[in-house]
Amino acid sequence: MTDVGADDGHLLDAIRSRIPSHVRPRMRWRAVDFVEGECDADWIVADIRRVELPHSPGVLVAQELLDDIPCMIVENDEHGRPWVVGIEDDALPIPVEPLHSHNDLTWLDTWWPDETPFATREVGLSRDRVWQRLRASVTAGVAIAIDYGHVREERRCGRWAGGTVRGFRSGRVVRPIPDGRCNITAHVAMDSLAAAPLLRQSEVTGIGGAEGDLLWLIEDRGASCAS
Ligand SMILES: C[S@@+](CC[C@H](N)C(=O)[O-])C[C@H]1O[C@@H](n2cnc3c(N)ncnc32)[C@H](O)[C@@H]1O
Repeated sequence: MTDVGADDGHLLDAIRSRIPSHVRPRMRWRAVDFVEGECDADWIVADIRRVELPHSPGVLVAQELLDDIPCMIVENDEHGRPWVVGIEDDALPIPVEPLHSHNDLTWLDTWWPDETPFATREVGLSRDRVWQRLRASVTAGVAIAIDYGHVREERRCGRWAGGTVRGFRSGRVVRPIPDGRCNITAHVAMDSLAAAPLLRQSEVTGIGGAEGDLLWLIEDRGASCAS
């Protein structure tokens, strides 16, 4: 099992403790993050955007990783054309130039079309690319992404108008200024990651409430040849 964005490995430990003891030694436990945690696992200390994971069968989980992956933010001008939002000297995000990148424009047209003047959106291509590489590392088994996210139908009806960028410091929401003092996240367009079943957290765990935006993407990567 591979936990990507494992933090200190608490999820891996929690899962391992629930695996029957006769099965545990036959499983390989791998964790990936910027810093090695204390949990007993084969740690890969790396930026997941740049590292090639070993290809193997099994289960890969990425919980609340993809919303941490930086993404481009755009704001429409008065004519509904998207401009790239950047940071100027005063550290306040402002539109700095029209969006020209063909790939980003195609992504927006496909997954989050919106010509409303001054609408803000996040381009999910960077997350799609990370997920492509993570899922490809699972040669057989299951790849699971669990994240705060949204789907096209919600985006279309304007539920996420204004965008979803948030800053967090000590568990509290703060203004998302990228000065290194807070963790900046943006919800993930979960349906653009892959054509796979999506479930709400409440459907998987039976628990609703504040975790209502958590979505599970569960990708079947096929059966292993090993018996
Ligand atoms: C919000 S925490 C989630 C931790 C854990 N998966 C959980 O659900 O409790 C996100 C984790 O992803 C890691 N992370 C974010 N971006 C990463 C990247 N590009 N490469 C590797 N790890 C990353 C962070 O260091 C952090 O430990």
